[in-house]
Amino acid sequence: MLLAEVLQALQPKSGGHYTDGTLGAAGHAAAILESSSPAGWLYGCDRDSAAVEAARERLGRFAGRFELRQSNFSELADWIAPESCDGVLLDLGVSSPQLDLAERGFSFQQDGPLDMRMDRRQPLTAKDLVNSASQEKLAEIFWEYGGESQSRRVARAIVAERQNRVIQTTRQLASVIERVLPRHGKRAHPATRVFQALRIAVNDEISSLKIGLEAAFRILKPQGRLAVITFHSLEDRVVKNFGRARARDYTFTGGVDVPELRRPRAPELKWCPRKAITPGQAEMIENPRSRSAQLRVMEKMSAPSKVTGSR
Ligand SMILES: C[S@@+](CC[C@H](N)C(=O)[O-])C[C@H]1O[C@@H](n2cnc3c(N)ncnc32)[C@H](O)[C@@H]1O
Repeated sequence: MLLAEVLQALQPKSGGHYTDGTLGAAGHAAAILESSSPAGWLYGCDRDSAAVEAARERLGRFAGRFELRQSNFSELADWIAPESCDGVLLDLGVSSPQLDLAERGFSFQQDGPLDMRMDRRQPLTAKDLVNSASQEKLAEIFWEYGGESQSRRVARAIVAERQNRVIQTTRQLASVIERVLPRHGKRAHPATRVFQALRIAVNDEISSLKIGLEAAFRILKPQGRLAVITFHSLEDRVVKNFGRARARDYTFTGGVDVPELRRPRAPELKWCPRKAITPGQAEMIENPRSRSAQLRVMEKMSAPSKVTGSR
């Protein structure tokens, strides 16, 4: 997704070092290695062991030019040296292989166990959350992570259902949601928001993203670029806030940005370009999932030789 735009942002070159924190099916990783031939290097990770294995196979022809790990991108700085990379990519969310495999439990389109773990070594599954979280907690998850306006109704229906039987499968959960949120016309399936919210909660995606952005920034060289593809406004807001805070030419104390409490400092990054990049018409037609994708690109500034400050 947004492949040409990612390459345009990172401008891979031979001898450069790049990191793909979300390998997935390794489409971006392969393109980065291809365009940094013959001597570009790629660090790659994914939380999902199946993705790492698939990537290893797909990238076979670039053997000797990459290192892959099963890992959360929040841990990038634990194994990649600070200021060593020319470009870092985070392509957030789930991959098609994860969505398409019923046994992974990400999709209500097919019946599977209510799982949704990207990293299957993690104990917590969607089934655990759906069957044991309080009604209030479920409503909070559906509202905060899914923007579901009927979050309380859905949470109440789930709690009523689980008093009769354990909610085990994706279809079982989808039909509870369908009963309280009937489908209107061509709008998205009523379970869409709830499934998205559960996935974000099970994988603790927002915390990973906040820590991952810091880690990605740490491993970037000055003038290196961080490219992040988001799929919903919640993720995009985290990326925007991260970039905004570092693009300012001042910091402020006290948690509120008022002119009297500002202290000048050199910005740590700049946006390039200023606005989010969205897929072109052709890509949106070919891949309807790309409609909600947005790419934001930040460039790390060189450390200033002398910090100007006021007292
Ligand atoms: C949209 S797909 C990436 C697709 C990939 N760019 C490609 O070209 O095929 C997102 C991938 O990121 C992984 N992922 C999501 N959050 C992650 C995290 N915090 N750390 C590592 N991998 C993560 C998912 O397991 C999934 O495989």
